Amino acid sequence: MSTELRLGVNVDHVATIRNARGGGHPDPVRAALAAAQAGADSIVAHLREDRRHVSDDDLVRLMEALDLPLTLEMAATDEMLDIALRHRPETVCIVPERREERTTEGGLDVAAGHNHLVRFVDALSESRVIVAMFIEPEPRQLDASRSIGVPAVELHTGAYCEAVIAGNDALAAQELERIAEAARYGAEIGMEIHAGHGLTFDTVGPVAAIEEIVELNIGHFLIGEAIFGGLESAIIRMRSLMDLARAEAAGSVSA
Ligand code: PXP
Repeated sequence: MSTELRLGVNVDHVATIRNARGGGHPDPVRAALAAAQAGADSIVAHLREDRRHVSDDDLVRLMEALDLPLTLEMAATDEMLDIALRHRPETVCIVPERREERTTEGGLDVAAGHNHLVRFVDALSESRVIVAMFIEPEPRQLDASRSIGVPAVELHTGAYCEAVIAGNDALAAQELERIAEAARYGAEIGMEIHAGHGLTFDTVGPVAAIEEIVELNIGHFLIGEAIFGGLESAIIRMRSLMDLARAEAAGSVSA
């Protein structure tokens, strides 16, 4: 059983709040530094085509200020590829993007977009950027991701989290099982497994307990929770819930 479980903190929504007024406050770079201080293993930022949260300048400043690895989430477009190759973050996570969506609503259809994606994966890999695909927890998406040579996938946990919020226990259990099965299958075919989207204090435990998952990426809930108790305490609590769930699943802590 893998005990490693990294936490990537997504700072997009610090920028969303800043952008509501313009100016420089609150600064996502300051939040990233606070996240590092609180125990984040990496920082995540999604540079969208419409720049609705982090900006190009934020990306430059994050790259300069951070000692932690940065994961850049981006759509598979030529503009984003140029930016990624210029900055060379540690990881690029390729996500689907639609202007009208409020957040990344589903996983990337790697199986259908195979031909389009190969060129992005090749160019980034040649520049020694780790490439991950943000996918639905489905074997065919894992197979397709592997076939184009990406070393990692991030499994979309949104449907599971929504089912928990809706109080639909049967659906939540089914969605969680889909994630667990995909994680097992992905690890079996040699992929590194990440997961994220919509995770909260209430939903993180069962996902963290899935032993094949080595990284969780969490943003909106942590930034929202920071309003009430500060970003550092939100991250520390999230970390400890993750670690506890992982330790319990490994049998090293009695529940
Ligand atoms: N992972 C990916 C690929 C995402 O696109 C997002 C949302 O930007 C997240 C994780 C984090 O989701 P949330 O903000 O709901 O925690």
